[in-house]
Amino acid sequence: MNRKQLIKSYIDFFKSKNHKEIPNASLIPENDPTVLFTSAGMHPLVPYLLGQKHPLGKRLVNVQKCIRTTDIEEVGDNCHHTFLEMLGNWSLGDYWKKQAIEMTLEFFTKILKIPKEKIFVTCFKGDKNAPKDTESAKIWEDLGIPKQRIKFLGNDNWWGPAGKTGPCGPSTEMFVDNIEIGNDVLMQYSKDKKGKYNLAKQKNIDFGGGVERTLAILNGFNDNYLTQIWQPIIKKIEKLSNKKYKGNERVMRIIADHIKASCFILNENITPSNTEKGSVLRILIRKAITYAKKLNINSITEISEPVFKIYKDYKLNKKFIKQELKKEEERFDKTLEKGLGEFKKLTKDKKSLSGVNMFLLYQSYGFPVEMTQELAKEKDIKTNIVEYKKEFARHQIASGAIISGRFKSGLADSSEQVTKLHTATHLLAQALRQVLNKPDLHQRGSNITEEKTRFDFNFDRKLIPEELKKVEDLVNKKISQAIPIKREEMTPEQAKKSGAQGIFDAKYGNKVSVYTIGNFSKEICAGPHVQNTKELGHFKIKKEESSSAGVRRIKATLK
Ligand code: ALA
Repeated sequence: MNRKQLIKSYIDFFKSKNHKEIPNASLIPENDPTVLFTSAGMHPLVPYLLGQKHPLGKRLVNVQKCIRTTDIEEVGDNCHHTFLEMLGNWSLGDYWKKQAIEMTLEFFTKILKIPKEKIFVTCFKGDKNAPKDTESAKIWEDLGIPKQRIKFLGNDNWWGPAGKTGPCGPSTEMFVDNIEIGNDVLMQYSKDKKGKYNLAKQKNIDFGGGVERTLAILNGFNDNYLTQIWQPIIKKIEKLSNKKYKGNERVMRIIADHIKASCFILNENITPSNTEKGSVLRILIRKAITYAKKLNINSITEISEPVFKIYKDYKLNKKFIKQELKKEEERFDKTLEKGLGEFKKLTKDKKSLSGVNMFLLYQSYGFPVEMTQELAKEKDIKTNIVEYKKEFARHQIASGAIISGRFKSGLADSSEQVTKLHTATHLLAQALRQVLNKPDLHQRGSNITEEKTRFDFNFDRKLIPEELKKVEDLVNKKISQAIPIKREEMTPEQAKKSGAQGIFDAKYGNKVSVYTIGNFSKEICAGPHVQNTKELGHFKIKKEESSSAGVRRIKATLK
């Protein structure tokens, strides 16, 4: 059975049981701001699961495209994917456990002809939110699944909510060959903002089944990637790399998975960026590129071709997708080699990599932290994600940026111009201290973009044009002196003792980076910075103004 046949037989079966087909919704969830992507078929149905009347009635069915960011770390095994299609059927306050389980079993055994003897099931064992689900177990037993193949589990048999709030409940899961193929969620609860589980107005059934896994089982494979919805991508990777899937399974699976998911995210007009959805996309593409490099593949763009063919029915926007993959590849290529070099240097003869250095790789070379962790794991090098997160948060506070609670590993803009402006900002700060003769002048905020640096500092009057000219000249003098920039790692105490400038109310991790520009400037900073001031070009102050009481703001550019 192929993908098309599986989807059709599923929809037809549930239509024959009086379900109405609903559309395959966008990957951008409309009804739940607490998740980034549609991660299950129930997403578009949230209001109806909570009691609103659905125009098509109480029995619904569809196949929904999903993106699961929670599974990204598992990707590489035989059955987890970032992009997947989910078979879904729902009862909105209509049928309950008995009919749901009966229909599910009928579909798997009568329509898909999976032998009943191969099916294992699990039911909820109960906790403080909901009681033990002996009812479902009894139903399975009555339908011919013997007791020995019915297990009671805790957390594994609780589903949802998909985001922070919303519909959820205990579930009963079906397994074949140790792989979960379907899941009836007995949706009776709704979690609120305070974390409380309230009884929902109606009892719903939310069934979800993975197309990828079911296809593998139906075709006798113990590896989803051997099915027709993966093989053309794997074949393409084999061809481009001149290597075999066998022996390179993990790497090839990750590339295939991440490219497929990227195609679908790009198809929603999301482009790689440093925030939220765009940053998930950026991580997927960059990880795919890094793994592709390991196999000596120069460009990942072509790997999207088989994706368009496999999912012809989605009519993916090929031109846009390929163009964006190429653009991101070019952006990443600029820093990748240097970054891998730096990674090697930082981990040479070491058993661990500090969070500060993980942040350095992210900030200066655009390495998603997941990728750094991955690279380290391969070499048996320990990483420190807690320290990385602290460093990330600290930098966000320092640069006045807003930390997104929803997806924490957004990527910093590491373009060349931004890097240059970072270094120029250190020169500017020191020049201001000297020209204004104010050693306790400190950064009060900063925002660096491709176009300009914005630097806020404590000073209580307007600067006169002569002072601005002096500051500008001093910065340009330091640029022309071609001073190398040195980076050292030390504890915050050592840094302060060494006279480094820093944001003293910010919380530092155990280790900080200190950047020194000759004997002119020394600052605690996460970077990124150029190697030598001569790379900067010409510095120009564009504007000086008040930012708030006692704080001035300078905007400056490099040409
Ligand atoms: N919403 C359930 C799941 O995602 C069915 O598994």
